[in-house]
Amino acid sequence: MTDRYAVIGNPIEQSKSPLIHTAFARATGQDIDYGKVLGPLGGFAQAVDAFRASGGRGMNVTAPFKLDAFAYATDLAPSAQMAGAVNAMKFEGDRVYAENFDGVGLVRDVVHNLAYPIAGKRVLVLGAGGATRGALLPMLAQSPAELVIVNRTVAKAEELAALGQQHQSGQVPVQGLGYDQLDGRGFDMVFNASSSSLTAELPPIRASVFAAGALAYDLTYGKGLTPFLKLAQEAGVTHLADGVGMLAEQAAEAFLWWRGVRPDTQDVIRLLTVPLV
Ligand code: ATR
Repeated sequence: MTDRYAVIGNPIEQSKSPLIHTAFARATGQDIDYGKVLGPLGGFAQAVDAFRASGGRGMNVTAPFKLDAFAYATDLAPSAQMAGAVNAMKFEGDRVYAENFDGVGLVRDVVHNLAYPIAGKRVLVLGAGGATRGALLPMLAQSPAELVIVNRTVAKAEELAALGQQHQSGQVPVQGLGYDQLDGRGFDMVFNASSSSLTAELPPIRASVFAAGALAYDLTYGKGLTPFLKLAQEAGVTHLADGVGMLAEQAAEAFLWWRGVRPDTQDVIRLLTVPLV
């Protein structure tokens, strides 16, 4: 029998997950059906209950339900606990296993697809919301030379920096700062994990944050040349990336977790790439 999976969100029409997982299944010969579920606001649990009752094996979770899924899960993986949010669930009997693959997906895209090792690099992350929280431990596990989190609300950056320090044995210096505390410091990798690109805004950084040969990576997907990437380009940065690879890689991690097979992501990335212009 064909195993059923789906992505749940509200709205859900825009989701690329069915396209990605259907392509993975075809390429790996896995017999799955992957659909979309429009979850009613305030009705997440009932919608997931119904999907499980009809034989569903697993779900991806997108906005605004990542916290509902966190509460719904019976078994939270460390990645989900750390992120405080869930983006993939696996159903086995009455158990609901929950993961968050966004952080590992990001790191795999940078290190594997873009061939840009994080080890030994000076890393700056803009924003201190859910995206940064999820990326924190997977990034620290790569042993950068330092990790600086910068945020408009400084207390949130400080809180995440303290969390990062706590969860490793202190070998990577982690700092939480306000934008005006960057003091002209340069970084080898700058990640925009703030939600600024969704509203076409520019986080208050200066071009001097990009060291020579830097990578500028915007975690949003499909927005073309965001104000952040445009600033990087004008500063002479030649390594520009958006979150298309992260999107494909977090999906590949979920597929591997569900099916025991790691799909290749190159075709999906090519298919979904929106030019950075
Ligand atoms: P997500 O879960 O997508 O990370 P979030 O938790 O709401 O969303 O966090 C959004 C992040 O983007 C926050 O760090 C926010 O900064 P504040 O905490 O100071 O509000 C940041 N952000 C949003 N718009 C921004 C902008 N125009 N410039 C800089 N940072 C911005």
